[in-house]
Amino acid sequence: MRIIRAKDYEEMSRKAANVISSVLTLKPACVLGLATGSSPVGTYRHLVSRFERGDLDFSRAVTVNLDEYRGLDRENSQSYYSFMNSHLFSKVNISRTNTYIPDGTEPDSEKACGEYDRILERAGQIDLQLLGIGHDGHIGFNEPSDRFEMGTHCVRLAEMTIEANARFFSCREEVPTEAYTMGIGTIMSARRVLMVASGADKAGIVKKAFRGSVTPAVPASILQMHRDFILIADEAALSELDA
Ligand code: GLP
Repeated sequence: MRIIRAKDYEEMSRKAANVISSVLTLKPACVLGLATGSSPVGTYRHLVSRFERGDLDFSRAVTVNLDEYRGLDRENSQSYYSFMNSHLFSKVNISRTNTYIPDGTEPDSEKACGEYDRILERAGQIDLQLLGIGHDGHIGFNEPSDRFEMGTHCVRLAEMTIEANARFFSCREEVPTEAYTMGIGTIMSARRVLMVASGADKAGIVKKAFRGSVTPAVPASILQMHRDFILIADEAALSELDA
């Protein structure tokens, strides 16, 4: 694994956008695995400004998102579809028919997950998968568990995750308790994996995930085994790793 250090959130975001820009420039018809959460927001902002300057072209790119809340429809302002739309899709020249997110409105989880796996299979190998990290080490919505799940599956969100995500909803009761997420197997089969991590509140989990043992109890720890895993993190997030 490679660690790229950044001074702060802004520098982390710029560096992550550099990596994604190079993939898109070298392979315009690439498959980008995308993430939500506050960590990649700055990265998307930089990608949008590069597009506006004429330096990036998304017209041939295909995107596959990690996850979606079960039970939220696309129009819900807290759905990951809305998130992607407002931070990236509506601001660049990506073709909507090339953007994929699990269908949170499908109540049959086997159907929703099976369909998403078929979409992922048709899209082909992910050239770059962008990730954040949850405070309990989750990636996508792969919560701590006793095994690594391979394909798309339905998860019950951990209490810690519901608490952390409650800030985006008007009250805790509104946070969905389940989600559909891409599996660890799919994430690990991406050609390159890029994680962004920022802030002192992530320092403990960053150390646990990348200096501790590889275990499904800390899902992100599996990335230590990936051939081309890059962590771009700011000083605060790396503070315990450096200690
Ligand atoms: C959510 C998302 C994850 C994300 C995590 C951390 O649970 N499903 O993909 O990594 O939040 O979010 P943040 O970057 O806001 O800390």
